[in-house]
Amino acid sequence: MSSSSALTLFFFCTSTFLYANAFNITNILNLNNEFSTFNKLLSQTQLASTINSRKPITVLALSNEVMSSFSDQSPANIKNTLSLHIVLDYIDVTKLKSLKNSVILTTLFQSSGQAKGQQGFIKANVMKNGDVLFGSAVHGAILDAKLIDSVTSQPNEISVLHISSYIPIMNAPSDTPYGSSTPLPSQPPGDDDYEYDEPPSPPSSTTKPVVAAATAATAKPPSSAKDNSTTSGVSAISTPNLAFAFVISSVWFFMTVWW
Ligand SMILES: *[C@@H]1O[C@H](CO)[C@@H](O)[C@H](O)[C@H]1NC(C)=O
Ligand SMILES: *[C@@H]1O[C@H](CO)[C@@H](O)[C@H](O)[C@H]1NC(C)=O
Repeated sequence: MSSSSALTLFFFCTSTFLYANAFNITNILNLNNEFSTFNKLLSQTQLASTINSRKPITVLALSNEVMSSFSDQSPANIKNTLSLHIVLDYIDVTKLKSLKNSVILTTLFQSSGQAKGQQGFIKANVMKNGDVLFGSAVHGAILDAKLIDSVTSQPNEISVLHISSYIPIMNAPSDTPYGSSTPLPSQPPGDDDYEYDEPPSPPSSTTKPVVAAATAATAKPPSSAKDNSTTSGVSAISTPNLAFAFVISSVWFFMTVWW
């Protein structure tokens, strides 16, 4: 057996490994008609592709019956509420049942930059009777979304759990008003899945010539106007590409050295 065919085999196995662990939340939820509304809304809000680009991830799935109470909400509200049901970690039934205390979980809503206080976090708790309950992590929120069962689990990749009711976005307590000195949790890098408002454009210099002359020394256009919000998806795509490039160059290296 020639070394080149061994290398070809090596190349194939490695590249297959890199791509075989991809999952598709749409296909996972499609296996059960009970989640068709939830599934459809995940696609409409583009949350499905965000889920597919991340791991580990856990989706708290809601039945059509629960989703029927959503129909009157605005698309933006629906997206925010659904993103509170996407946990940025792998949590399966075994992990939940073995909890000693309650656990605070970070959701995709937290990385939207719109969550205040604890709004972007949810809490899970195991009751004495073994039930697992979920709710908002905002202080005083009720935990009443009960774990029903596991829909799918691919360890450290994706877990989909069916819960009994949706977790509402609770108002942040009034003792932490917006703009207080408490710093908001920083946004993790690479979370460009949300659209942000454009920063205000600098005032036109022609509108008030006299005042403009007087304030020219102090007035400066907002420097944030240069911020680029078009990096969406680049980090998600470049990581596997980099890994792929690494494999190619490794193979190239071995072929050059050994062949
Ligand atoms: C996931 O599956 C759906 C339906 O089969 C398809 O439309 C979509 O393109 C897939 N997404 C990815 C990232 O493969
Ligand atoms: C922003 O993105 C555009 C194109 O996507 C690019 O031409 C421009 O140089 C970028 N600006 C910054 C500040 O990165």
